[in-house]
Amino acid sequence: MDKIIIRGGKPLFGEVNIGGAKNAVLPIMAATVISPGHYNLTNVPNLRDTRTMAELLRVIGAKVEYNNHKMEIDSTTCNNPVAPYDLVKTMRASFDILGALISRFGYAEVSMPGGCAWGPRPVNYHIDALKKLGAHLNLDHGNIIASGKLTGNEIKFEFPSVGATKNALMAAVKANGKTIIRNAAREPEIDTLVDFLNLLGAVITGKSTSTLMIEGVNTLNDNLDFEIIPDRIEAGTFLIAAALIGGEITLTGVNPNHLSAVINKLKASGTEVIIFENKIKVCASKEIKAVDMTTAPYPGFPTDLQAQWMALMTKCTSSATIIDEVYFDRFTHVAELSRLGANIKLERNIATVTGIDTLIGAPVMSTDIRASASLILACLAADGESEISRVYHIDRGYENIEKKFQKLGADINRISN
Ligand code: EPU
Repeated sequence: MDKIIIRGGKPLFGEVNIGGAKNAVLPIMAATVISPGHYNLTNVPNLRDTRTMAELLRVIGAKVEYNNHKMEIDSTTCNNPVAPYDLVKTMRASFDILGALISRFGYAEVSMPGGCAWGPRPVNYHIDALKKLGAHLNLDHGNIIASGKLTGNEIKFEFPSVGATKNALMAAVKANGKTIIRNAAREPEIDTLVDFLNLLGAVITGKSTSTLMIEGVNTLNDNLDFEIIPDRIEAGTFLIAAALIGGEITLTGVNPNHLSAVINKLKASGTEVIIFENKIKVCASKEIKAVDMTTAPYPGFPTDLQAQWMALMTKCTSSATIIDEVYFDRFTHVAELSRLGANIKLERNIATVTGIDTLIGAPVMSTDIRASASLILACLAADGESEISRVYHIDRGYENIEKKFQKLGADINRISN
């Protein structure tokens, strides 16, 4: 298993180009199954998760070519509406295929995702939404079997779940009649899925609001070229990195509008952030002010940057409270950050971080994608050498993260075993 070795303490300077968004491309890849056709996706990040989704599409019968951030998908040959446990267990987003499969085939067999590194992560909203649209659902040997001809209906989510909104949208575009999704997620990754589906001939209104309306259509187009939006979480990770580690960097290929909550918090911490059209320049300040943060669905502060924000606060001048209101138990990074000397007290979903002057390098372990990113940041800010193990987690969501940091002047290397 690969390891990352970091000698911390070197400030970051230069330019880093942000890739396409993992959480945007995965549902769009799933959506190519809905209508048999030929799709050309560009700005596709080369990640373990995009390769897993490509593998899932191949299992379903699609032809997928994937090179140089371009992906060609031929979904005309799809003939097997099954998402097996082997793939779903390695990537929960495989469950996003459920709505697409039932929309195309009137039948889907999708392994029920289990828990993940930080908790159970249920799928009850997805299931209730499909039932509202008239699907019959059974659990058989750990697989959800969904079948039936779908009819539009009103769906109201108790919480604006990103995944359940995606599945409901994909299921509803070809359902008979009108569907209304209330309390829908408003993340940019939902907006771009709406754009993709509408360009394909779907009729969805209410984009960027919490009420999405879908007029079902009988058929969709059979080809589309589509560019994946920039990854706001990768961008946020580099913004926080510069604020914590020191220096001055410019992010290119970003959409600053998607990062308002993060930029506002960074400014409150004393970091200088200058916004251009597709670029963001960030200059670290000498002192990191303590800034409390509570995660929330978009446009709130993303839970996917909670661990990185915690890394930043480990060196703040006083004490900051960090609350995760999206995932109550997403805190596996706390114990690892503490190994570097961080002073963090955790009670339920509330972490209190008291800043210290110096983090000290140590061997630490990756536990999930974003926790790993937080550890890389903290180790780059720490004195001395750190070794991060189980880095396959980071490869699920960040392309060549160590090369990007090397280009900014960091002393970070991967050792392949
Ligand atoms: N929830 C339920 N029941 C459901 C679905 C969700 O109780 O049926 C709860 C969850 O347990 C959680 C909350 O609702 O407490 C929000 O979950 P959501 O469904 O919005 O999350 P998701 O769709 O499973 C996506 C991202 C996550 C990101 C969350 C929140 C993808 C592939 N994943 O997950 O990204 O944290 O939205 O923004 O888009 C990551 O990239 O590292 C990652 C985990």
